[in-house]
Amino acid sequence: MKRIAVLASGRGTNLEAILEAAARGDIAGEVALVISDRAEAQALERARRRRIEALYLNPKEYASREEYDQAMIEQLRAAQTDLVVLAGFMRLLSPLFVRTFPMQIMNIHPSLLPAFPGLDGVEQALEYGVKVTGCTVHFVDEGLDTGPVILQEAVPIIQEDTVETLHQRIHASEHRLYPAAIDLFCKDKLKVEGRRCIIID
Ligand code: GRF
Repeated sequence: MKRIAVLASGRGTNLEAILEAAARGDIAGEVALVISDRAEAQALERARRRRIEALYLNPKEYASREEYDQAMIEQLRAAQTDLVVLAGFMRLLSPLFVRTFPMQIMNIHPSLLPAFPGLDGVEQALEYGVKVTGCTVHFVDEGLDTGPVILQEAVPIIQEDTVETLHQRIHASEHRLYPAAIDLFCKDKLKVEGRRCIIID
């Protein structure tokens, strides 16, 4: 069984979807640790409710990004983490962190990358006026939302959409897509060749 750690700063609805999928047996791995950079993150509560180790690491207690990331690395190593899952984690990761877990960090982004990277992917798509957006699960490299794409799902934009209604539908799609991508990783079915992530049957 692969050991998964989830990093989250906020509501943690993706974390919840992952925990539910794992409990149903739809993910061939177990969530061993949840880390947050915010004490009040609902994500921590969600983990504790299921008796999963939930750790708050306060960025203010560390002198630099590298020191903070080093503290996370130590915790992740102690938990024998195979896969780091970013689920609404609002801190940029240092190159040190990314290099420590090559192709072992996943992120979910609320657009069809490479369109609308960075913050506000949902708002950017609405403002641009595209008719289809969606979400992307990708491996994390040293760029901003640039790593190899694992899975994507399209979400149509309707004329009446606001950022809230569109984000809601994208969230629903994320909650299906993220557990599926994590399950593929846990079953050793993902192989990265250059920019392409191949799914092995
Ligand atoms: C999601 O929309 C995800 O795409 C983005 O952050 C949000 C996290 O939401 N990276 P939640 O905390 O899982 O509800």
